[in-house]
Amino acid sequence: MFSKNSTIGVIGSGAMGSGITQVAAMAGHKVILSDASPEALKKAGSGITSLLQKLVEKQKITPETMNGALSRITYSSDPDDFASCELVIEAIVENLEVKKGVFAKLDKIVSSRCVLATNTSSLSVTSIATAIEDPSRFLGIHFFNPAPLMPLVEIIPGIATHASLAEECMKLISGWGKVPVIAKDTPGFIVNRVARPFYSEALRIADEGLADFATIDHAMRSVGGFRMGPFELMDMIGHDVNYVVTETVWRELYFDPRFKPSTTQKRLLEAGFLGRKSGRGFYNYSDGAVIPKPSEDNALLQMIFLRVLCMLVNEAADAVYLGVASEEHVELAMTKGVNYPKGLFLWGREIGFRKLADELKRLHDHYQEDRYRVSPLLRRLAGQI
Ligand code: NAI
Repeated sequence: MFSKNSTIGVIGSGAMGSGITQVAAMAGHKVILSDASPEALKKAGSGITSLLQKLVEKQKITPETMNGALSRITYSSDPDDFASCELVIEAIVENLEVKKGVFAKLDKIVSSRCVLATNTSSLSVTSIATAIEDPSRFLGIHFFNPAPLMPLVEIIPGIATHASLAEECMKLISGWGKVPVIAKDTPGFIVNRVARPFYSEALRIADEGLADFATIDHAMRSVGGFRMGPFELMDMIGHDVNYVVTETVWRELYFDPRFKPSTTQKRLLEAGFLGRKSGRGFYNYSDGAVIPKPSEDNALLQMIFLRVLCMLVNEAADAVYLGVASEEHVELAMTKGVNYPKGLFLWGREIGFRKLADELKRLHDHYQEDRYRVSPLLRRLAGQI
């Protein structure tokens, strides 16, 4: 279906659109990139050029490779240019009506063979697909930020997507050097669903006063081997993004208490303390700010790690149980999309599913909250049913 000669269209030249353009052009495709804002398009052009120049300076690619990739990119403000595309990936603002409007227009420009895809992180693919006449040619192709560096790509068929399309896109995206996985069109797909407890259980532990942010971060880094702790990671992602994803997934999953957001994070957002980018979030990033010291109480650090991990493994098991993705793809998603040191099933096997299920049962008994209910799959893996 696709070949190296396929022309790829990308709409939206922000962080994601320019990254996707770079990846596709480096893979040998002609790419047409467009944006509603001429300034954004210009910025994307200089951004892609300077990123590739840096790769040449670091001798990761040759000047010929850079020039080849740059020569294959066309920056366009004329929607009719998309007529020659075999695939168009949309990466514009995360707004259902705006996205549907763009696809309704595009539907009339591209050929009937052209595949249309959205890079949405939180909207329903099936719902966006209703904007076009034939939703069987529509699906989600969800890259991670920064797209040139992160290997994972979630491929999300909508309800009406043609049966063979996801496999065709898997082949194409593998050919771009990426690791594609298939996810069901459900809130948060794989990564943004399974990763929620990393943030929300850490917040819950802090909200209960069991440990401070620095100690929880230290536990997840030193005991768990995560590159960053939950609070420093939330500060890096930005609370405008991270909190909104949490709230969206919670709402879309009909207020399941397992996904309940924390008021503590909401207040940061309301205050404009968005994290690193605004100089303050859970931590203060201004010059001379005191860096809080974590506790070195080993029992406390172990408790924190076990509590967050059992929630993560439970979520991974439930995602497989509910058919969001296969176990293999959940493992790939968490290691290739968010750099977890290990797949959550592998971790469960090493530590023992029974130990993790028992910890959840203890939390459930203690708090009497549905938040800590054990997934049937985890109970089965633990030999409890
Ligand atoms: P961004 O804000 O950096 O870029 C969006 C671009 O779309 C802007 O340049 C804007 O001018 C353009 N745009 C807005 N409305 C348009 C329209 N009607 N027609 C053409 N261009 C239009 O956003 P970002 O971060 O690149 O996100 C884009 C999409 O990718 C969103 O759906 C987001 O949820 C998703 N996404 C974002 C990730 C991230 O970490 N930033 C990760 C994965 C997916």
